[in-house]
Parts: sequence; structure tokens; C-alpha cells
Amino acid sequence: MKISVCGKGGSGKSTAVTLLANEFAERGNHVLVVDSDESNSGLFRLLGFKNPPVPLMELVGGKKGLKEKMAVKFSSGETEVKMDVLTQDKIEITDITPPYIIGDGNLKLVSIGKIMQSLEGCACPMGVLSREFLRKLCLEKNEVVIVDMEAGVEHFGRGIETSIDSVLVVVEPSLESIELAAKIKNLSADAGVKLIAAVLNKVISEDISRKLKDELVKRGVQIIGSIHYRSDIFEASLLGHRLASESGDQEMKQIVDCLTSDENR
Ligand SMILES: Nc1ncnc2c1ncn2[C@@H]1O[C@H](COP(=O)(O)OP(=O)(O)OP(=O)(O)O)[C@@H](O)[C@H]1O
Ligand SMILES: [Mg+2]
Repeated sequence: MKISVCGKGGSGKSTAVTLLANEFAERGNHVLVVDSDESNSGLFRLLGFKNPPVPLMELVGGKKGLKEKMAVKFSSGETEVKMDVLTQDKIEITDITPPYIIGDGNLKLVSIGKIMQSLEGCACPMGVLSREFLRKLCLEKNEVVIVDMEAGVEHFGRGIETSIDSVLVVVEPSLESIELAAKIKNLSADAGVKLIAAVLNKVISEDISRKLKDELVKRGVQIIGSIHYRSDIFEASLLGHRLASESGDQEMKQIVDCLTSDENR
């Protein structure tokens, strides 16, 4: 199962990715988290790793190398959304070796690539690599991929969701976040995604939860669960600590139950 986690900047995507990964791993699944956010780099800490993995971009010749490959393809008339840049027809998780993958046991992390320097050009190579990597990644039954997307909707334009089974959109209590969720619902449907659902986040009261739900339902967005405002989440981000799941975290259990229900598989 391939799940992508999207939403407005700061809505809680990386938080939701971490809590989902913890819950899936606890259930005995082999979880691969894919950091597809080219700007933020703290996901490895939330997941409890000391250092980030070396980006997959380095494995394919670096951003410069990939750009050169893409330029040749552009000049022969290929478009970015159709372009292939990897030589393999399919990739299995076991094909990826350290330092490009980190983690042992049930939870592993790879990163597509980060923007490191000013004037280094656009993030198109990251988008192309993300899309092709996710498309070629073949999973065993108990393997789950969870993608931490960049904020906003640019990744839809790059076709990254075309091989994704479920899109989760994290919605914080703001109108902008709600409106973006409605947009993501439509874009995901156009990309052929099977399950598109919202996870409410930073919910501070029943009243706020109800208002958020009403607004999403009005816009035809399905809701799969919610995460209340937790000071331990805030603190883990502030201090760069691992974000552990609360014991018996019923909120995440409900979300993962729903994602793995026969109806949504
Ligand atoms: N349920 C929550 N309770 C308390 N704080 C939260 C919660 N969810 C997220 N936060 C805080 O909100 C901030 C943004 O969270 P996070 O980094 O997960 O968002 P994001 O969507 O990944 O952001 P970006 O778009 O920058 O990647 C962090 O400080 C995080 O600790
Ligand atoms: Mg993030």
C-alpha cells in the first residue's frame, strides 16, 4: 500500500507521517517512509534517527547529473510528466542499501533530495525522481510506503500521485487548510487515487472538531480521523526529538484501521 500525506504548509504532514509509520510498524508491517519534501529536513529526527539518509538523488548522479539527463530527454521532445530517468523496470525495498536507506526493524527511511544552495535551480528533478521511484517501487503484501509530501499542490502537477493508493490530507483548523483539502480531493481524483481522506489535526476542542468536519463535509471531503493538539508533538518538533506514539493511541489506530479495511485496500 502506498499512502501519500499532503496538505498546507505546517498543517502537520510530517507529524502525521511519523505517527502513521509508528502505528503501521507496531502492527508488524514493514514501513518505508519516503521524504519527498525538498525543503524541510527534520523528518528523520521525528522518526528517531540520528542522521538523515543520503538522498536517492545522489544515487542517480546528483541533481546536476539528473538535470543533464532530463535536458537530453527534453530536447528529444519528451515531457516531464512522462519522462523515465531510472534504468530499472522495478525496484524492491531490499534493492535500496545504506546509506540511501536507514533504519532497521520495521521502520525505514529514504529521502528523495533537498535543495541545498541558492540559485541551484528548480526542484523538477526531485519531482521526476519521486514520481518514477514511487511508480517502480514494488511492494510485498506487508510493506507500506508513506510519503511525506512537500506543502501545497505542485506535486500533483508533476504526477507524483499517479501510483499512490491513498492520499491523506492533513487539515488544521484554518479556512486555507480546508480549502486546500477540497482542492487536493479533486486533484487526487483526477490522478486516479482510490482513497482520498482528511485527517483533522491540532484539534483543541469538540467544538473546533465539529466546525472543521462541517466545512469539509460541505466540500465533499471524507474524514478518516483526527489528531488532537498534543504538547508532546509540539515539544518533539521544538527539541528535535523522536516523536513516540502515545501508548494505545486510539486516534492513530482508528486511522490505520480505516486505511487497512477491506473496503479501502
Ligand atoms: N497535533 C499537534 N499538536 C501540537 N502540535 C502540532 C500537532 N501537529 C503538528 N504540530 C506542530 O505544528 C508544527 C508543524 O508540524 P509539521 O512539521 O508536522 O507540519 P508539516 O505540514 O510537515 O510542515 P511543512 O509544510 O513545513 O513540512 C510543528 O511545530 C509541530 O510540532
Ligand atoms: Mg513537513
